[in-house]
Amino acid sequence: MHIYRSALLRFDAQGAPLYDEDGLLAIAPDAEGRQRVQAAGAWQALHGQFAGQPVTQLPGRIIAPGFVDMHIHFPQTDIIGSPAEGLLPWLEQYTFPEESRFHADTHGAQVAEFFIDELLRNGVTTALAFATSHPQSVDALMREAQRRSLRLICGKVLQDRHSPDGVRDATEQSLLDSESLIARWHGVDRLGYAITPRFAPTSTPEQLRGAGELAARHPDVWIQSHVAENLDEVRWVRELFPRSRSYLAVYDDFGLMRERAVYAHCIHLDEADRALMRERQTAAAVSPTSNLFLGSGFFDFAQADTAGFRYGLASDVGGGTSFSPFQTMMAAYYVGREGQNKEGVSLPPSTLWWRHTAGAAEALGLAGVIGNLQPGCEGDFVVLNPQATPLLARRTAQARNLEELLFAMIVLGDDRLIENTVISQAK
Ligand code: GUN
Ligand code: ZN
Repeated sequence: MHIYRSALLRFDAQGAPLYDEDGLLAIAPDAEGRQRVQAAGAWQALHGQFAGQPVTQLPGRIIAPGFVDMHIHFPQTDIIGSPAEGLLPWLEQYTFPEESRFHADTHGAQVAEFFIDELLRNGVTTALAFATSHPQSVDALMREAQRRSLRLICGKVLQDRHSPDGVRDATEQSLLDSESLIARWHGVDRLGYAITPRFAPTSTPEQLRGAGELAARHPDVWIQSHVAENLDEVRWVRELFPRSRSYLAVYDDFGLMRERAVYAHCIHLDEADRALMRERQTAAAVSPTSNLFLGSGFFDFAQADTAGFRYGLASDVGGGTSFSPFQTMMAAYYVGREGQNKEGVSLPPSTLWWRHTAGAAEALGLAGVIGNLQPGCEGDFVVLNPQATPLLARRTAQARNLEELLFAMIVLGDDRLIENTVISQAK
């Protein structure tokens, strides 16, 4: 049993923030030995239940849920910040050559270790990650996540056409490899598998069909891909799949839209696409630093809310420019404003924060498991130090309410604000 006394941030079932300036968080192992939140709330109300137990006092600190990154590419760690005219030239010039290096086990293992260090330094405790088309790249990341007890979801990229030698896979073998990786990793400790067609243009209809069949045989396995990120990409898909109603509909036509399917970007969607997202209970991974960096466009938060489909925030490193959830939330704020094209002042800070924690967990089908610190949740959390930099200390000291405090941290925060990241351990 661990008892912490500090400020404490959580979310209620509707996504509203709960904040105790003087809070208590009690973490204890469940029957299987997994560390879970046993109690969370005001110190005054709860501490009597734990009389005589040792307490870790964290004065001036804030305990908050670990962040959930809904879309990130671990093999793109080393090409972050590579400028290109747009998505397609960026893939050809930087991404495919870099990903071809992951045929070597030693390279994958070395990048996986750095990648997970970087997630943790930034307070990210769960990620839905792309590996490369090499099955051994999945093994490398899963092994490292397992060693650190992380709840992590990852998959082998499927790309059997329009891809250069070194990353292109073979249709039948790619599906067999995915099936073996599901057997090896899905549900082992805290790990999950995601069936991962890169995006419609780099898969043959046969590969997409096979992926859909695999998804039907394994309904609790995730699906991840990209959709409607860039206008050249959207045009290309229209040429390649003229019989589908839209780019998004290509995935639906192959049985790749369902709960636990997560599509990055979802920028150039129409109303019918948004309705389909909702109907299929499919989630969008909104990746604003990537969309701004690659000039892809602006996710429409208002239309997404009107349609009522699930979405959460994501870094999309290495198209995205930062591992830091603070940078991602800040960029989402900018995108929500889009110059003077949108009404109001964009998304409230507590909504941005929820979309990167409990809201992202809900979109992944992991509500009540991660992304929050309500009783029963797994004990993944961050300790924030709002005094980490002189300006953070000065600005947060003047915050008059929770929204101002959260906003100051979003605007001014980076990895220095994350004093500690704690991962739920199993006995
Ligand atoms: N579309 C297909 N592959 C990728 C990728 O690696 N990154 C991004 N941002 N979009 C993609
Ligand atoms: Zn991506």
